[in-house]
Amino acid sequence: MKFKGFIGVAVLFIIIQFVPVQRNTKENYQSSFSITSDSPTKAEVTAILQTACWDCHSNQTVYPWYNKIAPISWYLARHINNGKKHLNFDNWNDYDPAKQIHKSEEIIEVIEENEMPIFSYTLLHPEAKLSEEQKAILIQYFSNTP
Ligand code: HEC
Repeated sequence: MKFKGFIGVAVLFIIIQFVPVQRNTKENYQSSFSITSDSPTKAEVTAILQTACWDCHSNQTVYPWYNKIAPISWYLARHINNGKKHLNFDNWNDYDPAKQIHKSEEIIEVIEENEMPIFSYTLLHPEAKLSEEQKAILIQYFSNTP
């Protein structure tokens, strides 16, 4: 009985690998609306965003190897879709000024409250954890937007 249960789980695991998952990546992608294409954007700010926020708030996710494995792939895709819906730095310069101001306020808030980057993400991406200095740089930058 136990063995049959195991086979059932194994078969299910194999079947779910065939469910297509949308991937958030394009070759040689460059958005003309990206916050990084904006000359006043400091390289320092850009570098922090790209390390700590880019995987979920841009059109270019750098995927870990385990992304290929369902249901982990579904979990990551949900985070990415949800993150992008709220904020996409690759569309930043396409946001109207009111939206930029609103998003800047939200960014400051999530940084101050340590809500972003998502905790589970920082376990596997320790480099994404913001230092006090990095937080200060981002908060200062987004306080002066646009
Ligand atoms: C692992 C994916 C991931 C990373 C990395 C990440 N976010 Fe998010 N972010 C999300 C998701 C998912 C949401 C949608 C809200 C939720 O489900 O909590 C979100 C929402 C937000 C929001 C909107 C909050 C609101 O009140 O609606 C802001 C602002 C934000 N993130 C900023 C950032 C910043 C700044 C960074 C980098 C320092 C970052 N995020 C890194 C996934 C991520």
